[in-house]
Amino acid sequence: MSAQRPRVFSGIQPSGSTHLGNYLGALRNWTHLQHEMDSVYCIVDMHALTLPKEPGEVAEGTMTMARMLLAVGLDPEVSTIFVQSHVPQHAELGWIVQCLTGFGELRRMTQFKDKSERLGGLNEGDDGSARSNASISAGLFTYPALQAADILLYDTDVVPVGDDQRQHVELTRDVALRINSRFGEGTVVVPEHRIPPAGARVMNLQRPDQKMSKSVGSEAGTIEVLDEPKQIEKKIKRAVTDNDAEVRFDVQNKPGVSNLLSILGGATSTDPESLAASYTQYGPLKVDTATAVIEMLAPIQARFHSLSDADVHDALTIGRNKAHAVANPVMNRIRTAIGLLSTGQ
Ligand code: TYM
Repeated sequence: MSAQRPRVFSGIQPSGSTHLGNYLGALRNWTHLQHEMDSVYCIVDMHALTLPKEPGEVAEGTMTMARMLLAVGLDPEVSTIFVQSHVPQHAELGWIVQCLTGFGELRRMTQFKDKSERLGGLNEGDDGSARSNASISAGLFTYPALQAADILLYDTDVVPVGDDQRQHVELTRDVALRINSRFGEGTVVVPEHRIPPAGARVMNLQRPDQKMSKSVGSEAGTIEVLDEPKQIEKKIKRAVTDNDAEVRFDVQNKPGVSNLLSILGGATSTDPESLAASYTQYGPLKVDTATAVIEMLAPIQARFHSLSDADVHDALTIGRNKAHAVANPVMNRIRTAIGLLSTGQ
């Protein structure tokens, strides 16, 4: 059922910016995998609609993200790079997966809990009017079912993601096993996650107890892939560490220093624990981390600025056709297996 080469699928939201966590946790891994596996990468614009957006915002963010995917080194001839809403089977399978996922399973998702808390929390009143949670959409709640559909639609073997997506991929596995046991083995492929050894959880530089994120935390604590070298230096120099001045990799007790070691380790492909032994002070660690990050991002920034809108549109057109060619037969197979009446065509 799987393609001859194992297939990898992953997605990213078109939020308009890309931070160091997205790069070290996911995108860099995607560029390596494209030469080993049949790679499908999706800009998940329908997922972006789960939080309120201004008209035009999602389209603009999608273009920026597509440009970023090309800039980090994804090759549209090698990988399939496309926009989720351009392949309508995502919505179709998304509904079917919603009907095969338990309310309780979705209720346990920590990302839903965190995001709904930030929007003011769920009002458990039983009159259904709940004014305080009007902006918590049903889509925010069922989002992981759409994510599972994204993955299952491509007969995916491997899902490269940062640590924060682990729970969603585990849910996808549970749903896939359920589908196969109800509708027959081989109805869908059961995927596995792949989380990088360093950089899987990049933390906010100002709040090292929180992950680096597009939506939460201060700007000073978030390094954007497109930040100028001076901004990167300044943000790393001001990164929160602690008072005991010992360089040690200990995420629990020294989250700030450990985060810097993880970033340096991610940027230089070195184990953060062994890096700690080379430093006795925070100053040099910060200088080396800033230098490594600036060097890593410079070629990406140059490519980002050299790409035209036409390059981006061309890549997305190729991607949509390639994605559709995989998704359509998989969707038909699933429709038949679950027992929907065929169109007869
Ligand atoms: P998104 O857009 O929030 O993040 C994209 C990728 O970046 C990783 N990431 C991080 N890694 C390390 N440290 C961080 N601080 C950090 N922040 C983000 C994420 O783990 C992710 O790999 N639900 C997904 C998008 C999605 C998807 C999919 C992913 C939709 N369908 C199917 C995989 C397969 C999301 O919102 O990612």
